[in-house]
Amino acid sequence: MSKPPVLVTGGAGYIGSHAVLALHDAGWRVVVADNLSNGRREAVPDGVELVEVDVGDGAAMARVLAERNIGAIMHFAGSIVVPESVSDPHFYYRNNTVASHALVGAAMTAGVRHILFSSTAATYGAPDTVPIDEDTPTRPINPYGWSKLMTEQMLRDIAATGAFNYGALRYFNVAGADPQGRSGQVGKGATHLLKVACEAAVGKRPHVNVFGTDYPTPDGTCIRDYIHVSDLASAHVLALESLIASPSESFTLNCGYGRGTSVLEMLDALDRVNGAPVPRVMGPRRAGDPPQLVASNRRLVERLGWAPRFADTDTIIQSALDWERRLYA
Ligand code: UFG
Repeated sequence: MSKPPVLVTGGAGYIGSHAVLALHDAGWRVVVADNLSNGRREAVPDGVELVEVDVGDGAAMARVLAERNIGAIMHFAGSIVVPESVSDPHFYYRNNTVASHALVGAAMTAGVRHILFSSTAATYGAPDTVPIDEDTPTRPINPYGWSKLMTEQMLRDIAATGAFNYGALRYFNVAGADPQGRSGQVGKGATHLLKVACEAAVGKRPHVNVFGTDYPTPDGTCIRDYIHVSDLASAHVLALESLIASPSESFTLNCGYGRGTSVLEMLDALDRVNGAPVPRVMGPRRAGDPPQLVASNRRLVERLGWAPRFADTDTIIQSALDWERRLYA
């Protein structure tokens, strides 16, 4: 299979940087496009070019793509905090949907034939039943989910003209860090459960809040499908290979393990891995949290032959904790 140069937008960010590592490790030539608004220069490995550019700048992106002879794009750049999307939807539609529109235009101008897009379980909203497969109706309950779903629709319609093929990967709850310690989650004002809890474990915060203990779940806390970021990254490499191998086929695939873990189960596991209890404060529900989100990953496994390596919950937590300790040191 040919391995054209790949552009990774948001490649200096959390998930993007892990995909860059996976591509780089597998011998792909990678160029990162990132405006460093959330990303960090240090997250881009040696030997990978970083272009500081706004993905929403279509003219600049068309030049970047053409000058480097880019054959495929992995598009991670965007905003991901659900409550922020509720308070500032205009920004979310601009930074996610409008910027993606500009990027897709640049890709068409430059003749890029394959696009892999970071989508989200938030496109499903709050389905009544789990596991959630890709035929579950998409009914986002926040602007973040809509901003991603609109981009999916745009890709679907344009791919139907034959301009390119695309894959939309709908991530469930991404967690953990590179097992070799090369990247992980960074950034002030973290909101994601495991990140927040690890910050509490190393003393950056006094405690972790448990948002809601009265959900209709066995222990009353929300259930999520946590997927190790490096397993997600390996799914991207396989998805890219599939797009190149089957240029007339596009796909939408859930990315999760098909396993539900409650907030309290996560925190109990963290206490175990940490070797000491992390202080928790039980509190009221956070607005907009669905009780349960668990993926069916049957299509991901069947279509891509994906075989996760870091699915064990303690492994996910250990990698996140190791990374947090390293940041703290
Ligand atoms: N939670 C806590 N305390 C915290 C943080 C989170 O109890 O300090 C709980 C939340 O209430 C929720 C669960 O932990 O029940 C997971 O919350 P996260 O914030 O870690 O993740 P979300 O499930 O809210 O969001 C994730 C992705 C989004 C994506 C969404 C899909 O981060 O990008 O899944 O529904 F949109």
